[in-house]
Amino acid sequence: MTFKAPTSDAAKPTSQGTQNPAIDLSVRLGRLRLPNPILVASGTFGYAREMASLVDLSTLGGIVPKTITHLARAGNAPWRTIETAAGMLNSIGLDNDGIETFISHHLPYLGSLKSPIIVSIAGRNYEEFVGMAARLSDQPGIAAIEANVSCPNVSHGVDFGTDPAMCEKVIAGIRQACDLPILAKLTPNVTDIASVARGAAAGGADGISLINTCLGMAVDWRRRRPMLGNGLGGLSGPAIKPIALRCVYQVARAVPTPLIGIGGIATIDDVMEFFVAGATAVQLGTVNFYNPTVSMQILSALPAALAEVGATCLADVVGTLTMPQQSAPVKPAHVD
Ligand SMILES: Cc1cc2nc3c(=O)[nH]c(=O)nc-3n(C[C@H](O)[C@H](O)[C@H](O)COP(=O)(O)O)c2cc1C
Repeated sequence: MTFKAPTSDAAKPTSQGTQNPAIDLSVRLGRLRLPNPILVASGTFGYAREMASLVDLSTLGGIVPKTITHLARAGNAPWRTIETAAGMLNSIGLDNDGIETFISHHLPYLGSLKSPIIVSIAGRNYEEFVGMAARLSDQPGIAAIEANVSCPNVSHGVDFGTDPAMCEKVIAGIRQACDLPILAKLTPNVTDIASVARGAAAGGADGISLINTCLGMAVDWRRRRPMLGNGLGGLSGPAIKPIALRCVYQVARAVPTPLIGIGGIATIDDVMEFFVAGATAVQLGTVNFYNPTVSMQILSALPAALAEVGATCLADVVGTLTMPQQSAPVKPAHVD
């Protein structure tokens, strides 16, 4: 990738590191408590083992492994990824070995890590979502479930993330089937993301993850063919950050549920922008491909960034955005 790596001073570790006792970095999303708000996003960090030689995994606020499905999926035909201006397109198609292989092969390692593990699941229908949640409910080593109701690369996968009533139903079903905290990961590919978020909140989501990729495509005009094997794919990386910020801002004002901001985050400044817009935590995605240690750098820079605006905890900055027509910030309902 040729993105400009986050080399600004703001992304470098500071002398304050994460040890500054004056600043509490822990966060709560409903029933889920995280040691810090810097997580890694599904599909961009494998099953963590691959990253262990590069990243001190114990420093992460949470790890969301690649989405799993009920049965194994081979994924889409190549090409599956393409670099774009300030981003990338992917159409992986949820290539994974299925829930049983995840439980037997990946979960023992993931569960041995200090960081909270948030297992991402995607079902083809209501029964699969609920059945997978029930299967994971009593497995050791899982901190929460992230319901991926937003993958653009699988047929039917996106309905739960576009229809508020279906979103509410599937989140409520998962909640009933499983005692773990639940995050609902939404797609930006809708007209009104706040209404879908209201569905997730009504269904009982502990947190809402915003956003999955933006539907896009790349064209080989000489061959007059799409470049991705699947035709369409999901755009991610710095190109989508403004869309993700807008979604977080809109949803923060629509529901009392804590939010996790995702989309093009690559520097401490990006992270602070998401907090101010209304996110309680963030997930780093595409940036892991070109700067795998960025999560550690950003975490180290976080206390100094908070101190810069006089904050002693994250709640001091979350949702503190003042819009042009306002004279003071209108804090989202979930901020204490
Ligand atoms: C190659 C690739 C694979 C992804 N796979 C998944 C996935 O399996 N499940 C999921 O919920 N999101 C998946 N995503 C979406 C990311 O988790 C994230 O929501 C999105 O890329 C936006 O964040 P970013 O701009 O920081 O990458 C994938 C993204 C990429 C680039």
